[in-house]
Amino acid sequence: MEILKTIKTRISTRSYKSEQITNEELDKVLFAANAAPVGNGLYENVHLTVVQNEELLHKMVKSTAEVSNNPDANPFYGAPTVIIVSCRVTDPAKISSAYANAGCIIENMSLAATDIGLGSVYLLGFIRAGAINDSLKKELGIPENFNPVSAMTLGYPTEKLVERDIPTNRISTNYIR
Ligand SMILES: Cc1cc2nc3c(=O)[nH]c(=O)nc-3n(C[C@H](O)[C@H](O)[C@H](O)COP(=O)(O)O)c2cc1C
Repeated sequence: MEILKTIKTRISTRSYKSEQITNEELDKVLFAANAAPVGNGLYENVHLTVVQNEELLHKMVKSTAEVSNNPDANPFYGAPTVIIVSCRVTDPAKISSAYANAGCIIENMSLAATDIGLGSVYLLGFIRAGAINDSLKKELGIPENFNPVSAMTLGYPTEKLVERDIPTNRISTNYIR
């Protein structure tokens, strides 16, 4: 798929089949993560956690329900794979780099996922709500001094991804020529 076609096809997928993706598909998406730009090339300050364990996915959903006071919380929309991006922030003044890095990594993964027909959606809400508490952080094997910053779902979408018409005026733009 050409990149512009992939960009037009990417969409936040919020409905998944329960079938797990293959390791080959996962590897392609993780390759895209490793190909993403990261501030100052400090890849050692970023960590990915691939969660495919049903019990742990369920624990995160339960924790989201608790912290958001919403028993119906469904942060992963039934996706069988969730990838968490964690960052090590050595200087609190540079926290913005952590979010920028996560954004670049997740968008790269999302486009790679789209290219091979997988659904994905950027996830920030459940992390910002504090669903990954210290005990879950341990269970997820997130290294010491790293904190979850963003996440992404992966799975087969219940509806096939199709190219979309994207309005080109969604983001206000001014020109100085
Ligand atoms: C930084 C960021 C955080 C987001 N957090 C969530 C989230 O927690 N849950 C969710 O369902 N979608 C989340 N989204 C997806 C956006 O709602 C979605 O990208 C936007 O509405 C545009 O729709 P599209 O991705 O289908 O083009 C997030 C997207 C970004 C970039």
